[in-house]
Amino acid sequence: MKPTLRIGIIGGGLMGREAASAFARWFVLNNFPVQVELVAVCDLQPTLLDWFRQIPTVKLLTPDHHQLLASPEVDVVYVAVPHNLHEAIYLDVLAAGKDLLAEKPFGIDLAAARRIRDAAAKSGRFVRCSSEFPFLPGVQRVIEWAQSGTMGQPLEVRSCFWHSSDLDPTKPANWKRQVRTCGAIGVMGDLGMHVVHVPFRLGWFPSRVYAQLQKIYHERPDGKGGTAPCDTWDNAMLHTEVNIQGIETPMRLEMKRLAPGATNSWSIEILGTDGGMRYSTAEPKTLWKFDRSKEQWWSRTDLGFQTPFPTITGGIFEPGFPDCFLQMWAAFAAERQGALGNRFGCVTPDEAVRSHELFEAALASHAQRTAVIPG
Ligand SMILES: NC(=O)c1ccc[n+]([C@@H]2O[C@H](COP(=O)([O-])OP(=O)(O)OC[C@H]3O[C@@H](n4cnc5c(N)ncnc54)[C@H](O)[C@@H]3O)[C@@H](O)[C@H]2O)c1
Repeated sequence: MKPTLRIGIIGGGLMGREAASAFARWFVLNNFPVQVELVAVCDLQPTLLDWFRQIPTVKLLTPDHHQLLASPEVDVVYVAVPHNLHEAIYLDVLAAGKDLLAEKPFGIDLAAARRIRDAAAKSGRFVRCSSEFPFLPGVQRVIEWAQSGTMGQPLEVRSCFWHSSDLDPTKPANWKRQVRTCGAIGVMGDLGMHVVHVPFRLGWFPSRVYAQLQKIYHERPDGKGGTAPCDTWDNAMLHTEVNIQGIETPMRLEMKRLAPGATNSWSIEILGTDGGMRYSTAEPKTLWKFDRSKEQWWSRTDLGFQTPFPTITGGIFEPGFPDCFLQMWAAFAAERQGALGNRFGCVTPDEAVRSHELFEAALASHAQRTAVIPG
């Protein structure tokens, strides 16, 4: 009999419902060692709680997260709420003796992230942070290749996450556009964990950062007939240096809410003198590989569904966002069970803190117009 992970969600908005969708099709995972069951949901909005009524395993729906945390039926909690609420709710989860899959950016700022990391270590609970794109087959191939030692001398790395819906100035403001609720790091808090997860796991931590941050729209409609101030950074370009195979290598991290034409485009490019790889979710099946022999080649491979955790889906079918989100949850559940093996794992609390150290250095760099050492 497989053990069952009983899950509670705090924050049933965009990501809370995405998580529910992943749990609802858990049975597609082949021979997975753990079952999951969504048993409790907390959100302040009654209409969202109503949405979760269609899931038969959900026994508790509440607007009070303390009530959810008091339930002995809940083993693991996924928290997907605005950034200003991360610290208080994550600490409540740990104090209740539950394991936690936190959302990024893991606290509204560096000080909060450090307090959460320290509380997690003290509690002994299993804590990880969300970042799903590395679990796509194309990204897995890039990671394997980067670890193979065949790039020759490293030349450069580029890791990007681009959105474009904010280009529309009539899009109403929400909590992600304001420092009070999103954090002073702005777009870096929204998109930054996604661009650092792979480089950090490869051991590429910036030793220096020069940041260019942009605020383009300073106010937006508030959705109630008036306007609301928008004081967060919209776009961030971090020009960093990392040590790859003992060589100081430029690494550019791009986080953009205003990237013309890009919907939710995550991409990575790693170039060396002997080889390179390039992958973007804009072309989810396409993997580009550079090889240098007598001639130089960029070859294109049409990928299939080779996910880290095998599923019933046909090997030639194409993966998407719900698939990598399910794979990330599988990595969380497997690692918690001691069954991850040598597969890629979710962001650790230490990695989350290092991301905040980088973003805080980026804020200082932009303010001083100079390069800054993170940490
Ligand atoms: N992993 C990803 O790809 C990804 C994508 C988007 C957002 N996120 C992260 O997920 C988190 C939530 O973002 P979202 O886009 O789902 O936001 P959202 O606004 O869609 O949902 C947040 C939900 O939290 C609820 N909420 C607010 N205060 C609460 C409280 N005290 N108790 C219970 N519920 C409360 C709100 O009612 C809302 O339904 C953020 O940390 C964000 O950075 C991650």
